[in-house]
Amino acid sequence: MRNIYSALDIGSDSIKLVCGEFIHGKLNVLCAEKTYSLGYQNNVINDKDELVSSIKKLVNECSEKLGFNIRKVLLSVPVTYTDFYYTEGKEEITSEDYKVTSDNIINVLKNAARGNIPANEELIQAIPVMFRVDSEESKTPLGLKGENLYVKAMLVASDKRFIYEFIKVVSEAGIEVVDIMHGALADYANFDTSLDSKTGALINLGNTSTSVGIFSKGILINSEILNLGGYELDRDIGLKYNLKRSDAKMVKEKFALASVKNASNKEQMKLTDKNGENIIISQRDVSELVSNRLKEVLKLAKKTINHLTKKEISYIIVTGGLTELRDAPLVIHEEFGNKARLGMINYVGARYNGYSTCIGMLLYFYSKLRLRDKEFCMITDDDIDTLVNGAREVTNDSILGKVFGYFFDN
Ligand SMILES: Nc1ncnc2c1ncn2[C@@H]1O[C@H](COP(=O)(O)OP(=O)(O)OP(=O)(O)O)[C@@H](O)[C@H]1O
Ligand SMILES: [Mg+2]
Repeated sequence: MRNIYSALDIGSDSIKLVCGEFIHGKLNVLCAEKTYSLGYQNNVINDKDELVSSIKKLVNECSEKLGFNIRKVLLSVPVTYTDFYYTEGKEEITSEDYKVTSDNIINVLKNAARGNIPANEELIQAIPVMFRVDSEESKTPLGLKGENLYVKAMLVASDKRFIYEFIKVVSEAGIEVVDIMHGALADYANFDTSLDSKTGALINLGNTSTSVGIFSKGILINSEILNLGGYELDRDIGLKYNLKRSDAKMVKEKFALASVKNASNKEQMKLTDKNGENIIISQRDVSELVSNRLKEVLKLAKKTINHLTKKEISYIIVTGGLTELRDAPLVIHEEFGNKARLGMINYVGARYNGYSTCIGMLLYFYSKLRLRDKEFCMITDDDIDTLVNGAREVTNDSILGKVFGYFFDN
């Protein structure tokens, strides 16, 4: 069976959709697209119809590129509050050879979740912390022999209404949600497992939100979302230079630097302001503005980290669309020191840090299936047929041409 999955991430600046295939455990991006987001701001759906049509538009664009229809997705739920419950579960191993089966793993996690979440909340994720088969601990218990399988798990849950509202929007766009995921957990899946022995933080700098997740030994233990992000920078630039928001955003993305260190007074940009007057913006001035606001956002994120955990933090990874600002690593190091780094997303076909949550969802879902020994493909056999046969016809410079060309040549 082919391992092809799609992930949808609804943001206030853009909605992103990434479709990828795992070949020998490695992710190949088949299509990564984003579209301007309408109807969603500050983690709140403020115009459902507009949001539904933005999602439809994006799905159609991707489907056209792929040559088959995307009908199922993994969905990140950007919940403003999340509750965490540390629980345990037990399941008797009844197979003839006393070996742990895939169903045992699914059931023991279900048992750990059952009755442990308040009625007004929905389970987003049951993260296994450790399994135990009789007295033997293991992260991957499949096939181990014993009488009982135990699990210690972290349950991540949030407001039912919000989660249902989100899933409903996607359903109304004609797409089935296969699994939901906490954004921070998805982000974490992108980065190396050497972090798994430590406690650290993952920050996602978006447009109207900055999410902070705290991880201990690879397990998400706390999270919070601040209503701050790149939008603030656009507003600062717009106010200072009397620019339309779209122009201010363009200045931020194409001209400003995140730090004044390499910004030059000689680099200038000519623009027309809201009154039709010609203005000149110096890179140094606008970068100072951007840098100050970015530092403020990072300082608040730091405060949030300290508020979310008393444990010593060994690493901080900063990702999300806003980290695409040129020289962002300079400011990240300035604010957080050497333990911090930029979380870059660098796949062929998906080179944008704003894809972090989508790509992470694909990686997390794949490892989740492996742990449970489950096979699952989000597209039908007919779709695969189209993909394979269509791929032979596509030109060499298309993404599909490259991926499948390579695949079949070998
Ligand atoms: N090259 C770039 N330089 C500077 N900023 C950028 C660049 N590319 C994107 N951004 C900014 O990153 C932000 C979008 O990031 P992202 O896609 O992660 O947000 P989002 O998921 O749409 O929003 P949110 O999660 O806050 O609802 C926007 O403010 C955008 O202007
Ligand atoms: Mg986002």
